[in-house]
Amino acid sequence: MSLRLGDVAPNFQAQTTAGEIDFYNYLGNSWGILFSHPADYTPVCTTELGKTALLKDEFAKRNVKVLAVSVDPLDKHHGWVNDINETQNVEVDFPIIADSDRTVANLYDMIHPNASATATVRSLFVIGPDKLVKLIITYPASTGRNFNEVLRVVESLQLTANYGVATPADWNYGEDVIVVPAVTTEDAVKKFPKGVRVVKPYLRYTPQPNL
Ligand code: BEZ
Repeated sequence: MSLRLGDVAPNFQAQTTAGEIDFYNYLGNSWGILFSHPADYTPVCTTELGKTALLKDEFAKRNVKVLAVSVDPLDKHHGWVNDINETQNVEVDFPIIADSDRTVANLYDMIHPNASATATVRSLFVIGPDKLVKLIITYPASTGRNFNEVLRVVESLQLTANYGVATPADWNYGEDVIVVPAVTTEDAVKKFPKGVRVVKPYLRYTPQPNL
């Protein structure tokens, strides 16, 4: 069965480019991003893994650990990582799972048979420190993901987790956030000392609380 938001992210053990890992141990108390791509030595995937490596400090700042999944074997991963480092001018140092038996791909429903019977699609899961699935995105093989958008979503998820706020369309870090409907305006004024702007009784903004 496919995973849904709020489900417990299944744990697993896997061989990776950084040795054998237990997913939960790898994550510890961090946020996690588990993401799949169709295959090694493919152009879009090369740019995606390169971009992820480039954003290493940004993920670390947000306490996020990343873990890639590919159904190719370990020796192929190692050779491909050399190519990624060379062509994308990076140092890939996050683990890539060698999921040849498709254990992880099946556990996270990353193979969509009507897209490809064998290759994983571009699935991406954001997992909270509570090990619950917070976000799922699925892209086809032909479209590389926007990893700046992934960072933006993580920021939104973390604001929700830490301050109980939501973020509006096209929100970017530093912009006003939304007071959720469950909080009355009276309570919101107490909870958000920077102020509450009431546009409609159901549409209320407050400055980003952690700044
Ligand atoms: C790629 O991973 O680069 C790719 C896979 C399938 C179609 C197009 C690109």
